[in-house]
Amino acid sequence: PDLSTLVNLFDLEPLAAARMTTMAYEYVASGAADEFTVRWNRQAFDAIRLNPRVLVDVSQLDTRLSLFGQELPYPILIAPTAFHKIMHPDGELATARGAGAASATYVISSFTTTPLDDIARVASGPLWFQLYMSNDRAYTRDLIQHAEAQGCRALCVTVDTPVLGARNRQQRVGFALPDGITTPLMPNAMAPSTSLTWHDVAWLKSVANVPILLKGILNPDDAELAVQAGVAGIIVSNHSGRNLDTVPATIDALPRITERVAGRIPILLDGGIRRGTDVLKAIALGASAVLVGKPICFGLAYGGAAGVTKVLDILRDELELAMALTGRATLADIDESVIWRSNR
Ligand code: FNR
Repeated sequence: PDLSTLVNLFDLEPLAAARMTTMAYEYVASGAADEFTVRWNRQAFDAIRLNPRVLVDVSQLDTRLSLFGQELPYPILIAPTAFHKIMHPDGELATARGAGAASATYVISSFTTTPLDDIARVASGPLWFQLYMSNDRAYTRDLIQHAEAQGCRALCVTVDTPVLGARNRQQRVGFALPDGITTPLMPNAMAPSTSLTWHDVAWLKSVANVPILLKGILNPDDAELAVQAGVAGIIVSNHSGRNLDTVPATIDALPRITERVAGRIPILLDGGIRRGTDVLKAIALGASAVLVGKPICFGLAYGGAAGVTKVLDILRDELELAMALTGRATLADIDESVIWRSNR
């Protein structure tokens, strides 16, 4: 594939679809039930207008940030997504190489189809690990220690999936992993726990030696409990609309959570980020950084490691454009005043 002609992330999806099996495409592209939340994730970003300033010196753009003691060159991470080998034969190895080439942090899914040691061997950028807790605490403890030993610098504990959503499009194509593709960290189709509570977060804290983020927070009351529980950060996420349909867009849920958390811990956000302006809007409304899911899967399917790098490069370039054109030279300059308020 000629990646040089790819101009934005929307153009990527049909190109990737043409190279994917129907089953893999439906797995990546679909949301739960009627996909209202999938659409709202996009519509909510589109509905936010920007309020630029002019005659600001934007000759030195600075997108760097510090997060949990880690220096990131720009505020875009790879969201954890499962089963990369159904998207590209090199699977998670290609994702890790692509992330490294773009200096991006790669959050590895519990449902990786490649062992962690193999990913760690090819990774040149930071790795984090996404954890689905099972009911088996010994198993979960071993998994955390394994991820830490392989160099994962943070744990994203997914809390919005006690059960999978009503994934009708996956049901229609009879989604199943092809023969020969397995999930070494989640053998025997080990399901996430349905009985997880805040008590388990306290236990996790006692086991983990790296920062813990709770992924899948939409309610400010849960954000408050997360702060009380002493976690390092939260990820405002609706799982790309794949679990509970008709929950709001993450960018609509963000302002109340930002208000409640009041700067006590960093807030990350994912769901529908496709443009540099979306990244800017999320930061303006209180996110420290964002994660990207589907476009990474499509980049992987279309161009392997180079496709993953290309997706990150496009988003990063677009963020810099958005900063220059709104007159915000640094991430700290991206505050609420960059959002257009029609009643003022
Ligand atoms: C996901 N997501 C996800 N989340 C998680 O915690 N563990 C996982 O294994 C997966 N797997 C997964 C597979 C695929 C194909 C998708 C699209 C998503 C959710 C993911 O981490 C993230 O929350 C969303 O993908 C972000 O939204 P966008 O960028 O995909 O719109």
